[in-house]
Amino acid sequence: MRFLFLGDMVGRSGRTAVFDRLPGLISDWKLDFVVVNGENSAGGFGITEEIFERTLEAGADAVTTGNHVWDQREALAFAGRQDRFIRPANYPAGTPGHGSGLFEAKNGARVLVANIMGRVFMHPDLDDPFACADNLVSACPMGEQADAIIIDFHAEATSEKQCFGHFLDGRASVVVGTHTHVPTSDHQILVGGTAYQSDAGMCGDYDSSLGMEKEEPLNRFVTKVPRGRFDAAQGPATIAGLAVEISDRTGLAEKVAPVRIGPRLAEAVPDFW
Ligand SMILES: [Fe+2]
Ligand SMILES: [Fe+2]
Repeated sequence: MRFLFLGDMVGRSGRTAVFDRLPGLISDWKLDFVVVNGENSAGGFGITEEIFERTLEAGADAVTTGNHVWDQREALAFAGRQDRFIRPANYPAGTPGHGSGLFEAKNGARVLVANIMGRVFMHPDLDDPFACADNLVSACPMGEQADAIIIDFHAEATSEKQCFGHFLDGRASVVVGTHTHVPTSDHQILVGGTAYQSDAGMCGDYDSSLGMEKEEPLNRFVTKVPRGRFDAAQGPATIAGLAVEISDRTGLAEKVAPVRIGPRLAEAVPDFW
């Protein structure tokens, strides 16, 4: 199975690049399944239902999120009726929406997609992400109810992310980090067969601070006095993510490669498709 993950779309720049490029990547690489993180797609803060639906039209099979999931209040309303909209699974019981979903890929594979949020330097009061992941993969194991398992681990600390990858090694096809908006170069297949990357990076303007116009964040670091608000950077976006060839037999990863396409980062595309 050919799987592509794209990191956080940031603002109009990021989502336009994904809408423009994803259909071509799906046909060129004959992708079977695509997941895109959309938590910053509405001006950098959250996602609207229109953007969510547009992301599916561009070819995403599911849209994951993170700590910005509710920034656009309408998400609280549509999260429950949109099965392909995935919010962090380790929010308290009763939170609107779904933390995971089981979907069919183009090749017929049953793919479990989950979004789980880290706690270190983030939200220490969330439910334990490790226990949450254990429950999810135990309830829908690879080789039984699922043919592949994709987990977007939305977290800040690389230590927590790496340990989370090792925790799921052999029980998930892909554990890919999001949230820091900077792609890490540690993409690999862990010893148990799980494809892993600490952070997929963002789909956004990299002449920025995490996809936001750099002037105001820079001003706040230097002067400590807010002068304006944070706006999404408007320059052309580079899309970033992870490409994984997943075994149809075992659900484990066979090949992994970073994806970076756009004007600012060194280009990276898989050489195996
Ligand atoms: Fe983000
Ligand atoms: Fe985030």
